[in-house]
Amino acid sequence: MEYKHTPVMIQEAIDHLAIKRGGYYIDCTLGSGAYTEAISAKVGPEGKVVSFDLDEKAIENAKKKKLKNTIFINDNYRNIKKDVHEVLGKDILFDGIVFDLGLSSYQLDDDDRGFSFRSEGPLDMAFGPKSPRSTEEIVNKYSEKELKRIIAQYGEEKEAGKIARAIVKERAFEPITTASQLAQIIIKVKIQKSKKIHPATKTFQALRMETNDELPGLKKALSSAVDLLKDQGRLVLVSFHSLEDRIVKRFFKEKSLKCVCPPSLPVCACGKKQELELITKKPIEPSEREIKDNPRARSAKLRVAQKPDPHGLKNKNKTPKQK
Ligand SMILES: C[S@@+](CC[C@H](N)C(=O)[O-])C[C@H]1O[C@@H](n2cnc3c(N)ncnc32)[C@H](O)[C@@H]1O
Repeated sequence: MEYKHTPVMIQEAIDHLAIKRGGYYIDCTLGSGAYTEAISAKVGPEGKVVSFDLDEKAIENAKKKKLKNTIFINDNYRNIKKDVHEVLGKDILFDGIVFDLGLSSYQLDDDDRGFSFRSEGPLDMAFGPKSPRSTEEIVNKYSEKELKRIIAQYGEEKEAGKIARAIVKERAFEPITTASQLAQIIIKVKIQKSKKIHPATKTFQALRMETNDELPGLKKALSSAVDLLKDQGRLVLVSFHSLEDRIVKRFFKEKSLKCVCPPSLPVCACGKKQELELITKKPIEPSEREIKDNPRARSAKLRVAQKPDPHGLKNKNKTPKQK
């Protein structure tokens, strides 16, 4: 099966990385390799790209592109610091780090996995073999209360209670082992409001996020990414889910504060250091044209921050103007 994926907001992400020739960059989510390829071309032979993906099929596919300046790491991006230190040594710092979160169209279309509603393969929404738990275990072993919480929280699904109840009722007759079986259970109980969006979309998203422990992993990776950036190094995030975007927004805000003292204190006593400067005050969204060409882009939000220059020199990184 050919590795097909249309990258979202690639031009915006690459522009905001402000790539320097000879620079060092990390792509935390390799996918089809489109971002990595663009970075690799811009840094040239004297630069370096380190690309992560949990999915070995993404790594295998990207290796075929024979990018001489790129190192591939088949691991969870939550381990970036440890992995990068192991491969390039402890003193290494980067000019930019990018995350394009979620799953690729290739993964969604692969019927051997459980991401697609019609898949008859095992109910497996893991990005790779190192995922902390299996989707089948969540669906068949979690209590109704736990299922409801996950579906409501990660899927932002209003009918979470009804769906959790239906899953528990059905699994009492026979275990739920395929994605299509699960999708059918959801179709039976959920009101279909839109013809374009499958009724099981939010539940599947929630189960994928729980399977891969996505939000805690993102928090850990963001902290490590800040430690790995050079002064004026860029951090670019493309997210597709409001909870992911909220984590990024809060993280950027907290790291960009210069002081956290109560306003009543006459002088600063907290000793807080500003660790990031916000480059995008509001998230950048895809153009109408991109959404029309690639509907998957519709919920994307891109945020950018930069490590401050401790000498207060004028920022030489070029950033495209925000519309
Ligand atoms: C939306 S795709 C990235 C697309 C990519 N920017 C491109 O140019 O094609 C997200 C990729 O990130 C990978 N991924 C998701 N979570 C991950 C994690 N915690 N660690 C490593 N890779 C992850 C997925 O396997 C998937 O291949």
